[in-house]
Parts: sequence; C-alpha cells; structure tokens
Amino acid sequence: MIRTVFFEENAVMLLDQSRLPEKLSYMKCSSSLQLAEAINELKVRGAPLIGVAAAFGLAMDMNNYIGPAAELGEYFRETKKLLASTRPTAVNLFWALERMDKVFQENRHEDPAGIARALITEAEKMFEEDININKAIGEYGQEIVDPGANVLTICNAGALATCGYGTALGVIRSAAGRGKLEKVWACETRPVLQGARLTVWELLQDQIPVSLITDSMAGYTMKLGHIDLVIVGADRIAANGDVANKIGTYSLAVLAHYNKIPFYVAAPLSTVDLSIATGDSIPIEERHRDEVRQIAGNYLTVPEVEVFNPAFDVTPHDLISGIITEQGIIRPPYSYGLKEAK
Ligand code: MRU
Repeated sequence: MIRTVFFEENAVMLLDQSRLPEKLSYMKCSSSLQLAEAINELKVRGAPLIGVAAAFGLAMDMNNYIGPAAELGEYFRETKKLLASTRPTAVNLFWALERMDKVFQENRHEDPAGIARALITEAEKMFEEDININKAIGEYGQEIVDPGANVLTICNAGALATCGYGTALGVIRSAAGRGKLEKVWACETRPVLQGARLTVWELLQDQIPVSLITDSMAGYTMKLGHIDLVIVGADRIAANGDVANKIGTYSLAVLAHYNKIPFYVAAPLSTVDLSIATGDSIPIEERHRDEVRQIAGNYLTVPEVEVFNPAFDVTPHDLISGIITEQGIIRPPYSYGLKEAK
C-alpha cells in the first residue's frame, strides 16, 4: 500500500500529488509553514488526508521546538492557527487539529519532549484509524453495488485522498474485490484534474477498469445507460445532510436524479459537521484564477479574463440516496441519522 504521509527523522514526508501521474515522489516538510504551503498548493489534498497531515505537522513542530518550555503553549496555538488557515471547506482539517489540541491539553504538565511524543502518537493513531474507517466504509458501501455495476465518480476520494483505501474509491475497491464491478467512469474534474491525474492512476495501479470522461460528458453518458450508480466523497456534511464536495458534484447529483440513477456519498463521520445546520453555511474555498485560465502552466484563454473558481459546491440532501459511513449507510431523514451516528 502506498503511504500518502508519514513522519520520518523529525520531518513530515508527503506523497507529492501535484506531480502524479508523471512522477511518484515524496516531499520533505521540515516545518509547519512548509506543510501549510503544501496543503495550499494541493501537493497533499483530500479531506481526511489534509486533517492527518496537519496533525503530523503540529506534532513535528512541537517535536522540533527549542524555545522555553513556558512558551510552548503559545507556539502550539500559533502553529495550529497557521495550519487551520490553509483550506476552509473540509472540516476534517479542523476536526484533526481540535483532536490534537485535546491531547496537548491533557499532556500540558509534561515536558516538551513528552508532549511531542503524545502528539506524534496521536497523529499515528489517526492515520491507522483512517485506514480502518475506510475499510469499514468500503464493506458497508459494497452492498449497494450490484453485480456488473458501472460506477461514476468525480475528483479523487481514494487512497490518495486519505491514509489509505479511500472513501468513494474504498467502496469501489471493496466491490471490485468481490467481482461485482464492471467499470468505473472517472470525471476528469476540471480545473485541477484530480480525476484524470489521480483517480485514473490509482485505479489502474489496482487493475480496476476505468474510463475517463470530461465533466461535461457525464449527462450524456448517463442518458446512454452506461452508469448504474454514482459514488462521491465529501469535504463537509451539514446536519441536514447537505454535502460539500468537489466542484461538479452538484451537477452530477442533478443529472443522476433526472436519469433515475442512485447517488451516494461516502465519508467518515469526521466529515460530518453538526454545528452547521445546512449547506448554505459551509464555507466554500475560492482558488486562484490561473487554475481555470491555464493548463500545465500554459494559458488556454485570454490571460486577463475574469474567472470564478470555487473549489467545491454543495449538493442538497434531497438529491442524495444515502451517506455511507464507517457505522453503516445513513438514509433520509439525515438530520436524525447523522446525529445518531455522531
Ligand atoms: O481539492 P481537493 O482535491 O482536496 O478536493 C477533494 C475532494 O473534493 C474529495 O472528494 C473529498 O475531499 C473527499 S476525499 C476522501
């Protein structure tokens, strides 16, 4: 299994996803500042993974701290703030940082080395937990996949977006393992192309059949009867079941509804944010204009054109057939099911 993040010699090593599929390489982050930049630049991405990567970053900075013990608390708070400022939509980031904060508070009477050890242990625990959670999601989720199914997905909600196995791709992996899957249809996922670059690479590594389509081909592909099921990941799920996920997800849900195709979301419960009542209050990240104006560094349009570049959209809960979690599949009404599961 490929490791997306690990702690080695006082540094956080990240699988650099911005270089895939051309190059499989790791980047070394020796400070939280470097790690925050890597999260910003999508070198490390995917809701569960940015949470765990940030947890490792926080642990690393505490481990490398050389200042007075009395100022460690302030340093911890500043580092946490820096990491929290990287990407606003995926709640897993804030969930992971809060979990680390709790461990810091519980160990605050230890010396700095003891605190750092406790934080590293917690980050490693999150890493292991995430893989087990994804396997449970896969196990529950494969039940909705009928033999011979063709499954459409968007972005990359796979091993690369997590600590391993994946959420939406975890369900696909489990279904493929049981011989139930005919093929995955991967939307390329403009503008950053996580589908074309990452999902296709990841599935082919596992010899899972995949066809790549541009995002605008999804409706016609559904109309032709090629798609039996849509499964996507999530960055934040509101208390009423509205789901923020990669831009384009909402369009797929509308198309699936019109074409009477079941539409499922696969996500760990750490993606559920009960403090947010509906999707309208989920903060949606807007990214740099050049992601839309350029491909691989080359302008594909008039360079000064204005651009709108939201990285995520919100799918209303009534377009979602079920939310697959590590505790089973939650069905409408989501406000009840999500609260119970949490
Ligand atoms: O901008 P990204 O690549 O971080 O967006 C990722 C997604 O939207 C994923 O679908 C989501 O984080 C779930 S990953 C298991």
